[in-house]
Amino acid sequence: MMLSSSLTSLTQTLVISKKASELTIMKRPIVPFHNARTAFKALLQEFRFSAADEILLPAYVGWSKNEGSGVFDPVCEVGAQFRFYRLTRDLAIDLDDLCIQLKTSRPRLVVFIHYFGWPDAQLAEAVMLAREHGAVVLEDEAHALYSDWVSGICGRLGDAAIFSLHKMLPFDYGGWLALNRSLEPSIITQLLQSPLRNPLPYDPLNYDWYSIAAARREHAQKLLELLSPINDRIRPLYTILPEGVVPQTLPVIVTEHSRDDLYFKMNERGFGVVSLYHTLIEAIQPAEFPDSHWLAKHIMNLPVHQDIVPQALEAMVEQLTRIVR
Ligand SMILES: Cc1ncc(COP(=O)(O)O)c(C=O)c1O
Repeated sequence: MMLSSSLTSLTQTLVISKKASELTIMKRPIVPFHNARTAFKALLQEFRFSAADEILLPAYVGWSKNEGSGVFDPVCEVGAQFRFYRLTRDLAIDLDDLCIQLKTSRPRLVVFIHYFGWPDAQLAEAVMLAREHGAVVLEDEAHALYSDWVSGICGRLGDAAIFSLHKMLPFDYGGWLALNRSLEPSIITQLLQSPLRNPLPYDPLNYDWYSIAAARREHAQKLLELLSPINDRIRPLYTILPEGVVPQTLPVIVTEHSRDDLYFKMNERGFGVVSLYHTLIEAIQPAEFPDSHWLAKHIMNLPVHQDIVPQALEAMVEQLTRIVR
């Protein structure tokens, strides 16, 4: 008798409707902003960050005269305190140091940056540690739009994610804040009405993200191969392109030649290389973070974007070879 009644209730719940109609399942609201830094600021404002709160950031954050610091400016603007956890020379999270900083400061927010589109191999563990210490987690996906939305390899472990659309699509501005399900509904409601919100005059979905992601991966893969004969002078920061990673640029380490000289010569010759980041913010001092400064001095980022024709990659590596050999 008992068995048949529990079977009846099971069949009652296990039904399948013809189409999905539940409005909250897998919802991930997006709020548009002028850029990623404004999205970050809106989040900090909504959480009412002040001088009483501490934010823990990775110790690789750049600054430039024209652009300031996309990651650090919002932290200063809301007047929060900050500290940094170490990264290795390969930009990997130093989990031991992350633990120490979490224990020492009990930050309210921890930021993880998926540099150049590559989420850290230890991201899940790092997020778990941050949560164990009661912190809110922000994934900075300024470089990881496609690694998140096309491949799904990042962006869902944190409470929120910021995106810099103008770095990945042919526009001068545009940012998103993605609000994950772990955020309280009241915070989500407030953020959807943020006074900093700025609807975009273009629709990012007018572009074929899948094809853009495929082109970026193909370009990065080709560059890895083309660079192999000069790896003693220019070596990729990441030697392989793991499944799902969609690069913003391909970071390389320039040894045996001045990075700045190479940067200027390549740009003079029409190849738009950048160095993210050539100058670190003052709060990240070389004595405390020598590896971050070593990286800032040697890194160069090669373009892999969707406009590139493959033959131009060969021409770019030819120029690189000529200069460093
Ligand atoms: C890792 C990272 N996060 C955030 C930002 C800020 O992006 P945006 O220029 O869209 O404000 C930048 C660039 O400045 C960045 O490199």
